[in-house]
Amino acid sequence: MVLSRRDDAACAPGQHLDWLRDELAELTQSDLLRRRRTFAKSQSVELQLDGQTRINFGSNDYLSLAGHPALRAAAHRALDEQGVGAGASPLLAGRADLQRQLERRLAQFEEAEAALLFTSGYAANVGAITSLVGRGDAVYSDSHNHASIIDGCRLSRAQVFVYPHNDLDALEQSLEQGGGFRRKLIVSDSLFSMDGDFAPLETLLPLAQRYGAMTMLDEAHATGVVGPGGRGYAAACGLLQQVDVRVGTLSKALGASGGFVAGRRELIDWLVNRARTYIFSTAAPPSIAAATLAALDLLDHDPTRGPTVQDKAQALRQRLEAAGWNVGASRSHIIPLILGDARRTLDLSDQLWQADMYVPAIRPPSVAAGQSRLRISVCYGHTLEMLDSLASALGA
Ligand SMILES: Cc1ncc(COP(=O)(O)O)c(C=O)c1O
Repeated sequence: MVLSRRDDAACAPGQHLDWLRDELAELTQSDLLRRRRTFAKSQSVELQLDGQTRINFGSNDYLSLAGHPALRAAAHRALDEQGVGAGASPLLAGRADLQRQLERRLAQFEEAEAALLFTSGYAANVGAITSLVGRGDAVYSDSHNHASIIDGCRLSRAQVFVYPHNDLDALEQSLEQGGGFRRKLIVSDSLFSMDGDFAPLETLLPLAQRYGAMTMLDEAHATGVVGPGGRGYAAACGLLQQVDVRVGTLSKALGASGGFVAGRRELIDWLVNRARTYIFSTAAPPSIAAATLAALDLLDHDPTRGPTVQDKAQALRQRLEAAGWNVGASRSHIIPLILGDARRTLDLSDQLWQADMYVPAIRPPSVAAGQSRLRISVCYGHTLEMLDSLASALGA
């Protein structure tokens, strides 16, 4: 006999998600609800958002390449010749010749033996970490690392040690404690995405060496825009060869989309065989590789773009600091204005919006509670007038 069961938890079809209404109301109440704006035309320093034109200080298109004619033309050619989708995972359908060329080019760029393309920087981080450490291993991660690193650490099933931001004494204490691990991995952003400051590589890399730990550096916000020829912060410090696993994105300064890992040939062979975000996901469209190759050509021909961005950012930062804004430890093209309170941050973002500027408000969980901020990203295409308008609107 089948008994029909009803208990207190049972509810009518269609009502199982009613709890979401309360959760969303709670987010609204605490000024943490996110909503999306819609942009028209390409990413650039002038953006049409929700039908209104604004100066864009919210993009990671640091070199202003996303809408560049050379990238568009390269992508168009690839679309005409190779179509839109890649068809399947690279292990099933193969990688496009353009992707093979790009992997070689990125390996040269990173002065590494080999490189591997992922569909996003997020996938690169998760795929790399989960392939390198597992049960019985330890991973050491900066508290301000990007969510994709945090998720990679969690998914890896290794023991995770989170050290306070850039606090290498705390990192060393954890390394000292940790006995008996099969493998150790230290992972850090090179340029922190919400703070605009850098990891102390000169101390961190020798520390890793002393404790026999592998090192992984995420250069997502530095690739293309920091260091000699845009080779990133480790290259700027002359330490590229000391980083075992180098991660970069194509999605930000290079104006395209996707991520990569570069390093020893065995590392890449291992990731091809183990990284689930590579193996079980359709490859990126070949047109993306074509656009990225065009971006790298542009960087080769005009290496001044990155330094120009840094100069503009430094001038703006100095002005804002002089006017009393808390820009934290920023030393790059990412400048936070740390306000603390989520409501105040939203209000200031709205005021700037009314003054024709888009500066996104960053709130928890993107930053810790009480650390809400505006995040200004300075890009190559920002004119001095645009930067001046922002500074003036902020009373600087
Ligand atoms: C430090 C860092 N790593 C990785 C990523 C992810 O890169 P992607 O946007 O290509 O997935 C981001 C994205 O913002 C990031 O800030």
